[in-house]
Order: sequence, then structure tokens, then C-alpha cells
Amino acid sequence: MAKFSDIKGFVFDLDGVITDTSVFHSQAWHQVADKVGAPWSKELEDGLKGISRMDSLEMILKAGNLSDQYTEDQKIALATEKNTNYLKLVDQMTPDNILPGIKDFLDDIQSHGYLLSLASASKNAPKVLEKLQLTTYFPKIVDPKTLSKGKPDPEIYLKGAELINLKPEQCIGVEDAGAGVESINAAGETSIGIGDKQILKDADINFEDTGEMTLTNIQKQMA
Ligand code: BG6
Ligand code: MG
Repeated sequence: MAKFSDIKGFVFDLDGVITDTSVFHSQAWHQVADKVGAPWSKELEDGLKGISRMDSLEMILKAGNLSDQYTEDQKIALATEKNTNYLKLVDQMTPDNILPGIKDFLDDIQSHGYLLSLASASKNAPKVLEKLQLTTYFPKIVDPKTLSKGKPDPEIYLKGAELINLKPEQCIGVEDAGAGVESINAAGETSIGIGDKQILKDADINFEDTGEMTLTNIQKQMA
């Protein structure tokens, strides 16, 4: 793990880290699973976190042995339907949907001069940030359309560091998904996993929830 004094920036995941939208994604995917007749489980739900829209659909179809049953056009229609349902939930969001402690943490790291970027797999990230009134914190956002591979590939976290002109070793990546922690680690950044310690066992630093994530607590674990 890097030394705390080497850290110059933070690369953030969005869904499940900054806000509780991972619940909305799950809800909308669950509807798709029910529609196609694929079994829904906690393992599937956790495995979908951090995974791009089309890859998520493939995972759901695979869970029901249905991968060959849908044409590309039908798959796009299912993914579009999911996104429409997801966006209905996003539309109701307000700054109250920011997870505990996140606003203070963002203010704190910003006032200490750390650089910030966003490495979310979601094409809806700019809209979600807008609803949360957090857009100004993230002038640098990795555009998932430019990626050749999604999480757990390191590409998205490497781009997140590049956007703020830092080396991966100078960055901390923050994630709630197993695939995301894998991506951060493969990129050579220090990883913070927020949530279930079993699922996020590969993270350099674990916090049970966002409220625990403070600069002091991070420094204690990196010293
Ligand atoms: C990730 C979420 O941030 O974005 C996944 O954890 C989601 O659940 C993925 O599938 C893609 O999001 P979107 O909004 O582009 O469909
Ligand atoms: Mg996430």
C-alpha cells in the first residue's frame, strides 16, 4: 500500500459510494430478471454492482440459462426498459440521497487540496450528480463510452487518475463493488472498500459505511 503522504487525489465510484442508487439499479434489474424468468439472488445482485448496463443484462440472462434466447435488438430493448425504469427513480432524487458523511468528506478533501475524479460505469452519472447538486465537485468524469473494457478491468481507474494528471500510486480509489475494488487494485491505486468486508476482502482499507470514511481514519490505516 502507498504511504498516506504520497496520496494526491481520490477517484470515486458513484453508485453505492456517493449515493444510494445501487438500490435503484438493483430494483430495476430485478424487474428485468422477473420479466425474462431468470432467478434473482443476493449473489447476482452483489455481482451486478459496478458492471456496465449490457454486461449486467448478460449476467442476468446467464443466471437463467437464457443467453441464446434473445437477439441483440431484444437485448437492447430490455436494457433500455431497465434504464427507463431506473431514470424514473433517479428523477425523484434530491441531495437527501447523498450517503452519510460524503458531503463533509468531499469538502474536507477538497479543502486539503486533493484532486477528485469520477470513475463510474454509469452513463447516467452526470445526471445523478446534478440531482445531488454535487456536479461542481467533479469537473473530471471518466466517460464510460470511451472504455474498451468495464470493471474489473483497470482501464476506468487508470483514466480517472490520468484525468487529474496523477500517477495511480498517488490515488485512492473508493468502491462498494467487488469488481470495482479489483479494478482499483489492478490499476495500482490504493483501494477503499465500503460495505461488506467479505465481498470487499481485497480492498486495502475497509469501512463498513460511508460515515466512517474520514481523512483521519484513512491516515490511521495507511501510516
Ligand atoms: C454502475 C452500477 O455504477 O453503473 C451498475 O453499479 C450499473 O449497477 C452501471 O449497471 C451502468 O449504469 P448505467 O446507468 O449506465 O446503466
Ligand atoms: Mg458502485
